[in-house]
Amino acid sequence: MCGIVGYIGYREAYPIIIKGLKRLEYRGYDSAGIMLYNGKNLQIAKTKGKVSDLESKSSDIAQSAATIGMGHTRWATHGVPNDINSHPHVSNSGNLVIIHNGIIENYEPLKKELLNRGYTFSSDTDTEVLINLIEEVKKNEKLKLGKAVQVALNQVVGAYAICVFDKENPDEIVVARLGSPLAIGVGENEFFIASDASPFIEYTSNAIYLEDEEMAIVRLHKPLKIRKIKDDSLVDPYIQELQMNLEQIEKGGYDHFMLKEIYEQPNVIKDTYRGRLHANSGIVQMAGVEDNLEKFLHAQRILIVACGTSWHAGLVAEYIIEEFTRIPVEVEYASEFRYRNPIINPNDVVIAISQSGETADTLAAIKLAKEKGAFVFGVCNVVGSSISRETHAGAYTHAGPEIGVASTKAFTTQITVLTMIALRLAKAKGTLSNSDFYRYLQELEVIPEKVHEALESNEKAKEIAAKFKDAPNCLYLGRGYNFPVALEGALKLKEISYIHAEGYPAAEMKHGPIALIDEQMPVVVIAPKQGHYDKVVSNIQEIKSRSGKIIAVVTKGDVQVKELADHVIEIPETSDALSPLITTIPLQLLSYHIAVMRGCNVDQPRNLAKSVTVE
Ligand code: AGP
Ligand code: GLU
Repeated sequence: MCGIVGYIGYREAYPIIIKGLKRLEYRGYDSAGIMLYNGKNLQIAKTKGKVSDLESKSSDIAQSAATIGMGHTRWATHGVPNDINSHPHVSNSGNLVIIHNGIIENYEPLKKELLNRGYTFSSDTDTEVLINLIEEVKKNEKLKLGKAVQVALNQVVGAYAICVFDKENPDEIVVARLGSPLAIGVGENEFFIASDASPFIEYTSNAIYLEDEEMAIVRLHKPLKIRKIKDDSLVDPYIQELQMNLEQIEKGGYDHFMLKEIYEQPNVIKDTYRGRLHANSGIVQMAGVEDNLEKFLHAQRILIVACGTSWHAGLVAEYIIEEFTRIPVEVEYASEFRYRNPIINPNDVVIAISQSGETADTLAAIKLAKEKGAFVFGVCNVVGSSISRETHAGAYTHAGPEIGVASTKAFTTQITVLTMIALRLAKAKGTLSNSDFYRYLQELEVIPEKVHEALESNEKAKEIAAKFKDAPNCLYLGRGYNFPVALEGALKLKEISYIHAEGYPAAEMKHGPIALIDEQMPVVVIAPKQGHYDKVVSNIQEIKSRSGKIIAVVTKGDVQVKELADHVIEIPETSDALSPLITTIPLQLLSYHIAVMRGCNVDQPRNLAKSVTVE
């Protein structure tokens, strides 16, 4: 959901837009494009690749004197990254132009209706459907662009930040937002439009941030009018005087990308189940699963291959899929799997999990599984990535670009997708009672609110971090669904603070690790009320009796653990199976604050790469 830059004013638009798109590169993207209007014609250039590739491709319009235009960096959700799918998109008449960040969830039925009405499409994107819907409304109801956008958006389900331009009415740009950010920079006789203020902060510090379900017609020499999309009511524009510097803006006001991405989790979990989960109607479906349902249902075994945090998500999935569907699951480090000549049967289903979609070991494991005849399903965060193209089918997480090397929102969105797969298979196999099935759907639907509540433990996590930032080691313990979360919490601490940390099944302590316990050893124990609470309390008592320092993640209102632990972080109550989506949050925050207090490079930790594309 990447980048938008628009300009309308007295200066040449091209350099402003190109430089603005470069300011937005930090958000991660796969394609770029630009539209200018020179008073006569639309001048459009777009390409897969970087803004620098766009510059090479748009040298013919770079000298354009156009003073109105818009540019886009794409993070593909529908349609692989290629030139045709890049934005801007133009309507069938050739008059209307759009750039869009977000997802049009109901684009398929809308596209079908437009095809029936004779529209044609050159791209595979949801965005091209939206611009032709706007055209159809505009033509049919004889509306001006602003009204046509408003009427069309009331038929749309999804998330969007859009700029729309009409060649026949070239003195304005219509903008609207729902679930994807859009800011308007207010200059002297000029307006800037962008996903955040970084493209225009050097020109003006006066900014209006559109709220969800708001739209505006940006027109020179006219006061900016902001309206509610739903009922056309006027909204008083609130012009903020920005104090942030460029670097702060890129991180959305957060000090690091990692913290920004931790806080994005409620929204991106919602984006990931958007259009796929409708709890009240008992619907949970993803095209890749529906099209291959029989393969999943007849699988003798599900093998999961992944690395690092994605491997931890796979471990959570093992517990959930086995519990919900009774299909045996085995989770393998891709790096081990690819070399140990594993037994793979043709009726095995392999699930490959990867945020980047470029991890070499995971890619190699996929190829091996395919050679041995298995059906391979991918769970990736990057549309069109190598792994997403190598697997037979898949389901994308919609976490948006994850910039911080330490994976956070990818982990929770991977678990969201894997939980939806488990629920869909359980429904088909009848291995969950109807009431449990609906209960889990409803709980998954409100997980974003619970993650939001868990993020309120940030200050507490920071207090605790100050006490343990110089610990030489740390142990993380969890049971059942939260054993993988203990592993993930330890990895987070290790990779950004360089403190040695280990995750263990809580019961495993007495088989050796308890020898490590003394007053120097902080032990993080994940002890939610659900699951094996009483057993975990016993483990805590064992640690306490050996002077271990205990940091416990507990369900809000817990009393028993509170009396035993040195520090507690409370989280909202959840069912055991969905608790990893919540229990991981305080561990992300704890590792983040410890790393910051230790002066570590949180977003680019030493020795690490965001994507390990080599062995
Ligand atoms: C996790 O914080 C690390 N960045 C690393 O373990 C990562 O999860 C691993 O390299 C796998 O990457 P992928 O999900 O892109 O395949
Ligand atoms: N859903 C649109 C596409 O896939 C926009 C993606 C984005 O946010 O860049 O083209």
